[in-house]
Amino acid sequence: MQLKGRIAVVTGGCSGIGAGLARRFLLEGAKAVVVADLRLDGAPAGTLAHRCDVSREDEVAALVARVLRDHERIDLFCSNAGVLTPGWDLREADFSLWQRDWNVNVMAHAYAAKAALPGMIARGEGYLLQTLSAASLLATPESASYTTTKHAALGLAESLAFTYARFGIRVSALCPMAVRTPMVDDLDAGGASAGLDGVISVEDVAAAAVEGLRDERFLIFPHPMVRDYYAKKAAHHDKWLQRMAALQERFTDARR
Ligand SMILES: NC(=O)c1ccc[n+]([C@@H]2O[C@H](COP(=O)([O-])OP(=O)(O)OC[C@H]3O[C@@H](n4cnc5c(N)ncnc54)[C@H](O)[C@@H]3O)[C@@H](O)[C@H]2O)c1
Repeated sequence: MQLKGRIAVVTGGCSGIGAGLARRFLLEGAKAVVVADLRLDGAPAGTLAHRCDVSREDEVAALVARVLRDHERIDLFCSNAGVLTPGWDLREADFSLWQRDWNVNVMAHAYAAKAALPGMIARGEGYLLQTLSAASLLATPESASYTTTKHAALGLAESLAFTYARFGIRVSALCPMAVRTPMVDDLDAGGASAGLDGVISVEDVAAAAVEGLRDERFLIFPHPMVRDYYAKKAAHHDKWLQRMAALQERFTDARR
């Protein structure tokens, strides 16, 4: 998909990667970029900002209805909003936070697909871009709920990709490692274990996303080494688990 003349929606578009995507889509000539977020400060210049809690199906459905009313179609829906709750030790888990993470990192993508697909299918084309994470394929040793929900979100994205391809729908999963945003700053200034391969900018992520959309590739890796790590994990799963244990000890107080 080329962005020129397109109508795009970006959730979590008032900060970090979402704001970077929105700015880049405008530079690529998108006709309208709607950002949807809990907060509206930080909406990039030139975007149309709507308040929306993506963890609520009614609010996502209302967002889609409003964009369809204002712009007649949605060419590209980017489910980008996400949350990360630090915590590796299930003995101390707060499952109300796990439930929040599940609702934002997984259900929001399902709500968006349910609301946006009918219009896209009626037109015979549409694109769903899901901001997932390298943790969808690998893991974040600092956060069990993040690893779990991002894996689930990949399963959903795959399911959407193979189910709706015959209706003209394309799906991509954007899978960065550490990116310089408030989310990473909250975890650790160096990006914690995900930062070992460098903390890249939101502009780098947006450039990779636009290239991946142009090629209509399912997996988009702003950090190219993730492809190799994923292949090694699949080939040597037990060895990979040993490496993750060592990484967890290094980046958490896992010896407790
Ligand atoms: N920063 C990284 O290193 C990194 C790496 C891999 C993947 N990601 C993913 O990228 C996406 C964006 O993260 P970011 O780093 O830009 O974080 P961020 O905290 O800068 O931005 C996230 C945005 O999502 C919004 N949001 C959170 N909950 C919401 C809700 N319920 N409804 C609507 N909006 C909500 C926040 O208000 C915020 O504006 C997330 O899905 C995250 O998991 C980030």
